[in-house]
Amino acid sequence: MLKNYYIVLLFTLCWTITAYADTPKVAIASAHPLATEAGFEIIRNGGNVFDAAVAVSAALAVVEPTGSGLGGGGYWLLHRASDQFETVVDGREKAPLAAHKDMFVDSKGKVVPRLSLDGPLAAGIPGLPAALVHLSEKYGRLPLSANLAPAIRYAQTGFAVGNKYLKMLKFRAEVLKKYPQTAAIFLPDGKPPTVYAILKQPDLARTLTRLAESGRDGFYRGDIANKLLNGINKAGGIWSQQDLDAYRVAERTPLTGTYHGIKITTAPPSSSGGIVLLEALNILSAYDLQQSDDSTRAHLVAEALRRAHHDRALYLGDSDFIAIPIARLLNADYAAGLRSSLRADKALPNSYLSGTIAGQPEGDNTTHFSIMDAEGNRVAATLSINFPFGSGFVAEGTGVLLNDEMDDFSSQEGALNGYGLVGGVANSIAPGKRMLSSMTPTFLEDDQRIAALGTPGGSRIPSMVLLATLDFAAGNGPESWVQTPRFHHQFIPDVLEYEPGALTPDQQHKLAKLGHQLKIARYRFGDMQAVQWHKKTRSLTAASDPRGEGLGIVNH
Ligand code: GLY
Repeated sequence: MLKNYYIVLLFTLCWTITAYADTPKVAIASAHPLATEAGFEIIRNGGNVFDAAVAVSAALAVVEPTGSGLGGGGYWLLHRASDQFETVVDGREKAPLAAHKDMFVDSKGKVVPRLSLDGPLAAGIPGLPAALVHLSEKYGRLPLSANLAPAIRYAQTGFAVGNKYLKMLKFRAEVLKKYPQTAAIFLPDGKPPTVYAILKQPDLARTLTRLAESGRDGFYRGDIANKLLNGINKAGGIWSQQDLDAYRVAERTPLTGTYHGIKITTAPPSSSGGIVLLEALNILSAYDLQQSDDSTRAHLVAEALRRAHHDRALYLGDSDFIAIPIARLLNADYAAGLRSSLRADKALPNSYLSGTIAGQPEGDNTTHFSIMDAEGNRVAATLSINFPFGSGFVAEGTGVLLNDEMDDFSSQEGALNGYGLVGGVANSIAPGKRMLSSMTPTFLEDDQRIAALGTPGGSRIPSMVLLATLDFAAGNGPESWVQTPRFHHQFIPDVLEYEPGALTPDQQHKLAKLGHQLKIARYRFGDMQAVQWHKKTRSLTAASDPRGEGLGIVNH
């Protein structure tokens, strides 16, 4: 199907099969074969899994500009085997200091459509460049310049664009066309290129080189910063040098929980993903889902997700700005209380939890990669520029596509964002605040196995990670988690959404009878990347979602 990627795959396998004898065994799964290969290149050069994570993140910024990039942010969940240290590097974007609560609302008090999605006003201050520097300096073994070398090469020499890239490009072409400097990169001759055309990004190569040479100052100060500020502010943005100077990544303690003997380690706020995942699993922990028929299982999962997303809307936002009752939300007794309203014979209407507002979840972007070595060192990282190609805006001469993560704030209490997610004051816009995310990089561990996994997919991310966790609990491995049919409930809209083929007609009938409003998604969603380590045999496995065009492999 994807000729070029098979050629790359063959090339990659040749490299890995003939890898140096003393190269450590590592599993890498990412959304693009060249990003996976960038990780192995760094391992072969003596880097550790954290160096490889920097290389994969930077490579994805070049070869998957639809999902993440230097103009965006993300979360890197790390585990260091030597001392069992775990952390989350929170490189989520922040609202500019000139941002305010009503910046996307007109004089009549109405949210202006698309203002938080398209163009420079939609962009938060990027965290990815600072996170790459931080990860490399604090956890890596190699210099930043070595870790960025594959990405710089890909940007200079180009890569072959695939079908997924072209599908996303067509989806966002109207926005990209608005900005000549963006169109010049992604729409040569004013239109999308043909499949397998080579995309070179010399400006991005220069920006990455500045970062490699000067660390965070290479992006947040000097020439690149000036170009960003000039371009953005001329086009209606509100960034200042003070914003760039003030941006810092945060290190946060991961959230942990257990489900049927499995330890789950995942992302804390500023992402909602970990809380939604753990709260829903706590609700489900009283059931034996493996003994349930498929319809009952889907019903219980949907009802658990409904309740967890209800709490997301009420309580979650940037924990640096608001107090979040995390201990209560993740308490087993609290879950038991939520479970007491859960009936096996009936879906609970949203109106019993809160008022209902209709909305349309959209998009399937962002990106995820997972890396693990045979010592158990591991990384699960989910990165994003929000919608495909972010805000569509590139400041002249930088090659950096800016995010549109400002849409992940609640522009107004009760208003829906681009994913149909509702939010309240906890996630309202404030200067320097991080917008709430759904990204859910996660580790799973039982007495035999350890996994690192995650996926893109906007509001659907925690649901997908939850389904993979249940599949892990059923004893299945990465190949199964990434393939498992998916369904999703996010409280508002009050809809049980499922992938084509995920529910049989009989299951649909049974779920509708319980009162679920069913909606078939227009396409299969997610692009899960997963790796697993068997404690006893120390063997590694990797798998990449068949819905995408990625590559998950182990070097030998
Ligand atoms: N922008 C998607 C997310 O952070 O959840």
